[in-house]
Amino acid sequence: VEKTEQLYEGKAKKVYGTTEETLCIVSYKDDATAFNGLKKGTIMGKGAINNRVTNFLMQMLEKEGIPTHFVEEVNERETIVKKVRIIPLEVIVRNIAAGSLAKRLGLSEGTKMKRPVLEFSYKNDDLGDPMVNDYHILAMEYATEEELSVIKSYALKINEILSAYLKDANIELIDFKLEFGKTTDGTIVLADEISPDTCRFWDTVTGEKLDKDRFRRDLGGVEDAYQEILKRLLGE
Ligand code: C5P
Repeated sequence: VEKTEQLYEGKAKKVYGTTEETLCIVSYKDDATAFNGLKKGTIMGKGAINNRVTNFLMQMLEKEGIPTHFVEEVNERETIVKKVRIIPLEVIVRNIAAGSLAKRLGLSEGTKMKRPVLEFSYKNDDLGDPMVNDYHILAMEYATEEELSVIKSYALKINEILSAYLKDANIELIDFKLEFGKTTDGTIVLADEISPDTCRFWDTVTGEKLDKDRFRRDLGGVEDAYQEILKRLLGE
């Protein structure tokens, strides 16, 4: 499989076509943005870490029965994935209140939710990814009823698998964002990434933040936090 033309450039990744009709290559960048692109920076080594962490977790989820777009890691920052049509939703799962949920409901960060909370945003930079519910999703045909039900059940199952897995590495899964896509044969698969860019990870003992909030909130030690996640998960 050889890389061909660039199909898309996002804030943290580029996607290339390949000589194989049904495959793409994702290339992870060190660029970091926050607050819908208002804050920009570079996190040295981030691309390579997010590539490794995402692939590791996706392979783990595949073994647990979740279909993903993962095919094969090509090098430090590039991976072959199945070509999908991205469903234009950010699927957010929360176990502990933080970030926008803490703000919206007036909760202090760290408040444990009695059960997981599932949220959807419509992926649209110009609109700032507005939150939507099932009714918007179906009325706007962002997904069909059947797709939405599959997405919800995968998201909650992924939360259970990941939370338990990360706990063994002394990482508390506070919340995270997923994206799903439809492959050329119509299967819904987990796509995009699962990394410190898209999850909140807190040390189970100290509560230390080991994710992109260190960049968003200028807490320092950003690179070290990403490195620590890589080490705890892959031993590197
Ligand atoms: O900002 P908020 O609290 O809504 O974020 C919830 C979770 O979703 C966090 O883990 C954050 O990293 C992730 N997220 C994301 N991309 C976005 C918005 C949120 O990865 N555009």
